[in-house]
Amino acid sequence: MDLAATYMGMRLSSPLVASASPLTMSLDNISRLAACGAGAIVLPSIFQEQIEAENEELERGMSVGSDSFPEALTYFPDPSVYEMGTRRYLDVIRRARAAVDIPIIASLNGTSNAGWIDFAGQIERAGASALELNIYFIPADVSLDSADVERRYVDIVRSVKSAVNIPVAVKLSPYFSAPGAFARKLQAAGANGLVLFNRFYQPDIDLTDLSLLTDLQLSTRNEIRLPLLWTGVLAGRLELSLAASTGVETWEEVVKYLLSGSDVVMTTSALLRHGVEYLTTLRDGLVSWMRSRGYDSLDDFRGSLSQQNVTDPSAFERANYIATLQSWGKPKAPVTSRTLKTAMPA
Ligand SMILES: Cc1cc2nc3c(=O)[nH]c(=O)nc-3n(C[C@H](O)[C@H](O)[C@H](O)COP(=O)(O)O)c2cc1C
Repeated sequence: MDLAATYMGMRLSSPLVASASPLTMSLDNISRLAACGAGAIVLPSIFQEQIEAENEELERGMSVGSDSFPEALTYFPDPSVYEMGTRRYLDVIRRARAAVDIPIIASLNGTSNAGWIDFAGQIERAGASALELNIYFIPADVSLDSADVERRYVDIVRSVKSAVNIPVAVKLSPYFSAPGAFARKLQAAGANGLVLFNRFYQPDIDLTDLSLLTDLQLSTRNEIRLPLLWTGVLAGRLELSLAASTGVETWEEVVKYLLSGSDVVMTTSALLRHGVEYLTTLRDGLVSWMRSRGYDSLDDFRGSLSQQNVTDPSAFERANYIATLQSWGKPKAPVTSRTLKTAMPA
């Protein structure tokens, strides 16, 4: 079975990608993920705050590589992973590249276009195959409008692209008013891929002691619907690669994301829940589904249920919402693919 996929110009042996998390900081896990069929691995993020804190220390003539680090990240389950210095981060990239022959994607996480971006060049020189840019910006300042927010992203992408030659993906939040037009702006700024979507940490409220709960919840499979909508709408309409991220719990979500037009499918929560070997379960499930349908490669079905390729493209839009409400409880004609060779199991 041919599971080869192309992501930002990189040829991957499989569309399954381990997304950024503490799991991918360990060389042992990286090797095991590669052995289990990961097509690529995204390292956990190195944060703007870390890079800037080190730069400031350097400027003050103090010791390099201190572990001083912002409180902002304390919601992560294993904060020690996120307290690494820049030298350790670069070292992990070098060692991971030496240990496995699949692409290693580094992750830069920041919010403003400033000097920290120069670190992207060091990431490239350390051997990263590509860079994922997580612009984790929450526009809590109510005077910022959407144009300000989009400009911020575009400026950061331009700066990062001018600092490196490796492909750059942008891990996007789902909260843009016009994701398609914004994706085109990012493409014009040089982005090579989009990761749909970043899963923002969101606080809850503890009603016992009336305090904010700032823990990080793992995702559930119901969460695929929003990324699935946008991979389906954007597939075939951009020159960017699309990575689906959020809610992969079983091989079924992997297949759905591929049918919607994603080039690769990322997973973190499932690996944290079940262990890194679970990637084999996802891979085996994908392979046996392809076999049951008579498909030999991803090209046989990838994108066949994107908006461009379904019998009723309005299924992705408002018209379908109204039709669904009107026919609530009544059977509806299925929206199928116009392009798929075999619509039913062999
Ligand atoms: C414990 C944990 C740590 C994470 N660390 C990072 C990170 O460093 N950088 C990043 O871009 N995303 C990070 N993420 C987000 C994941 O990469 C992923 O986008 C998100 O969990 C949604 O995918 P999932 O539903 O498969 O978990 C983290 C997620 C979890 C649960």
